[in-house]
Amino acid sequence: MKKLFHVCVLMIGLQVQAQVCPVIPMPKEAIYLDAAFAVDKNTPIYVQSPRFKGVAQYIQQEFLRLKGLPLAIKSNLGKMPTIKLEQIKGLPEEAYELAIGNEGIVIKASDEAGAFNGASSLAQLFSLAAPSSSGWAIAAWNIKDQPRYAWRGLMLDESRYFIGKDKLKSLIDWMAFYKLNKLHWHLTDEPAWRIEIKKYPKLSLVGGVGDYNDPKRPAAYYTQSEISEIVDYAARRNIAIIPEIDMPGHATAANMAYPQYSGGGNAQHPEFTFDPGNPDTYAYLSNILREVNALFPSGMLHLGGDEVSFGTDKWQSNEGIKKLQQEHGLQDLKAVEHYFMERMADSVYQLDAKLMAWDEMADINLPKDETIIFWWRHDKPEQLQTTLDKGYQTVLCPRLPYYFDFVQDSGHHAGRKWGGLYNSLQDVYVFSVDKWVRASQQTQILGIQANLWTETVTNTNRLDYLLFPRLAALAEAAWSSESEKDYKVFEERLKPHLRLYRDQNIYFYNPFNPNEIPEPVYFKRDRKDLNAMQN
Ligand code: ACM
Repeated sequence: MKKLFHVCVLMIGLQVQAQVCPVIPMPKEAIYLDAAFAVDKNTPIYVQSPRFKGVAQYIQQEFLRLKGLPLAIKSNLGKMPTIKLEQIKGLPEEAYELAIGNEGIVIKASDEAGAFNGASSLAQLFSLAAPSSSGWAIAAWNIKDQPRYAWRGLMLDESRYFIGKDKLKSLIDWMAFYKLNKLHWHLTDEPAWRIEIKKYPKLSLVGGVGDYNDPKRPAAYYTQSEISEIVDYAARRNIAIIPEIDMPGHATAANMAYPQYSGGGNAQHPEFTFDPGNPDTYAYLSNILREVNALFPSGMLHLGGDEVSFGTDKWQSNEGIKKLQQEHGLQDLKAVEHYFMERMADSVYQLDAKLMAWDEMADINLPKDETIIFWWRHDKPEQLQTTLDKGYQTVLCPRLPYYFDFVQDSGHHAGRKWGGLYNSLQDVYVFSVDKWVRASQQTQILGIQANLWTETVTNTNRLDYLLFPRLAALAEAAWSSESEKDYKVFEERLKPHLRLYRDQNIYFYNPFNPNEIPEPVYFKRDRKDLNAMQN
């Protein structure tokens, strides 16, 4: 039953030929009409509602990016066959209908996000279009579609490896291509601090020096105007960006810049924590969060809160902390950590922003409607259960299978494993929320997310290699219901996407030939780093 809408069986002579919809993630319904629409540079995009103008511009930019085809947007409907964007009533959030026929293309949606999703499917079908006499023949699929989850996320660690604006925008293009709609931006950690803060300029000037593999690398960070440019670029692709300012642990780079707020660390993790015993620490961090909040209209701030105990050694002998414990009856350092996070969470709520945090923070009692917890410790399913039992909205990003710094094939050596386990393309695809979450708590699951930590990334080829094609599998796992997923069919649909990666200079992992070393791809400043290529 489930393939009825995805596969159209054509009779060609006596042979039966199956047409499987190549769009990833798989649309809910897709019917092939055995026809095509020929698009060329004279095909106008017609926008009925001004609200969809931005989506029309996205179509322009994608057609140019994918095949160098420059289209124009027209505000009156002439006689030419068009790509038409139409706002209609009654479709759910993010849902769309896309109809491609001999006469033209129509995308219908009730909201901008839905129109965008229709445009993204169109961009994919266009990317796979065959050349025709005057332009490109886009296969005539009729699609009705909507996502399972509202949160389809990717986390990117730019503290350990600074990707830079151009590559980041390119990655945002690919996220949009697969309808991933949340970019969780890990901007601060041990190796470096990557966001300009006007009130504390040393955070980026001093804290921005180095990365995981080269502690002396000259300072690299995003200025506030670059942040606004990227946030805007992503918003026009239906992607909200959530900044993460990790605390009270993973604060090393910040503490290099402003040591007066450091709570110390140990030999393995020097200056790892902020100092909860210094009353000024709270105002300092709140001032930082005010600036960060002003830059990110998503209204979501991620405060980390993970792995604090990695570096609390010096808290034992900290006089300020002892005083704090006495004043507030805090029995142990865990209670101090929780006190710190509750106070910082308050700073977030006072900005009318939502608080996001890693799953350690499910142990404290925060306002449920204003807090989202990210379950990452796959080996602690009880922490997921605590999170859900306390009523938090939850994003699932368990290490297995959603840490993309893990290797993806048994023959690969650079990258993490967990007791021999790794994150194959298939595991990313088949992950089932339903296996982890009981039916009565399903509504608390906002969606799923992959996290790319960048200890093993030294150039953008390596970055691509870890992301592609797992990004496509993630997208389908987040978009489609269990009953609509089929790994074997996904593998077939992926093949043309791999050809597209090759055309678009993406350095990808080939699941059909796991030990293939692709030709190096040049992305600007990486030329000199190519020797560092590794699987
Ligand atoms: C994490 O991996 N420390 C969230």
